[in-house]
Amino acid sequence: MAVVNYEKEGRIALMTINRPEALNALSAEVSGELREAMIDFRDNPELWVAILTGAGDRAFSAGADIKGFRPGPREGPAGGTGEVVRADKIWKPFIAAIHGYCLGGGLELAMTCDIRIAADNAQFGQPEINIGFLPGAGGTQRLPRFVPRAVAAEILLTGDRIDAQEALRVGLVSRVVPRDQLMSTAMEIANTICTRAPLGVRACKEAMIRGYELPLEEGLALEREKVAECRATEDFMEGARAFVEKRPPNYQAK
Ligand code: CAA
Repeated sequence: MAVVNYEKEGRIALMTINRPEALNALSAEVSGELREAMIDFRDNPELWVAILTGAGDRAFSAGADIKGFRPGPREGPAGGTGEVVRADKIWKPFIAAIHGYCLGGGLELAMTCDIRIAADNAQFGQPEINIGFLPGAGGTQRLPRFVPRAVAAEILLTGDRIDAQEALRVGLVSRVVPRDQLMSTAMEIANTICTRAPLGVRACKEAMIRGYELPLEEGLALEREKVAECRATEDFMEGARAFVEKRPPNYQAK
């Protein structure tokens, strides 16, 4: 059985980590299949937005597969599965639909997504410190950039978890919804993004992600570069024409 279900619904790619019996722990096999799905999503012109979630009712993902830990240097992709999104320059948006446990590498993976929404039963944490380890897939770097530093330090250094409401309060997720509305909400957000000009969406994501790391002047220069690229697309004028003609735009990703 595949450990990642990869489905396509119109323009939306749905990636579901499918090891519910192990709380969707990220084994090497999961990482491999997830990477394959992500690369297919990146390269498939029919797909515009991806949703990432976990099978079953207990977890988005409880993190790296502890049972697979071996002494010595780590095997697999540097920086963990989530880094595929960055390393392979996937500028199409990812939405993480999080329920249950979202721990360790699971939270690190969710933090490589652009939009995080949570079910009311979600719990977040970086428990690596509890097992003599530290986050190794971006957690020590992204968490303090995503939530207030004192909150990040407490999560990272105690290994304690926070619930969905606290995650919302500190800005780790943008919405909390009842568990049974998680996927419909994720689909609704994905569908909304799919009505926007796809090349504009990708340029916007790239400017946002790369811009985080830059001084303001360089970030603004990057934005100007992306604006120039966007103005050269057919969809740029389609958006303007549709506005003037008072009709919905028909974007072609060109
Ligand atoms: N790796 C491998 N197996 C895991 C797992 C993980 N991260 N998390 C849970 N499982 C397995 C359990 O071993 C158990 O399997 P068995 O039935 O074969 O024993 C099954 O999933 C169900 O889990 P529990 O019985 O433990 O369920 P629980 O409700 O008692 O506890 C939990 C839930 C608190 C999340 C607990 O499972 C737990 O603490 N898991 C580990 C979380 C963790 O430490 N994650 C960080 C991993 S390190 C990492 O991610 C490094 C990195 O930066 C990339």
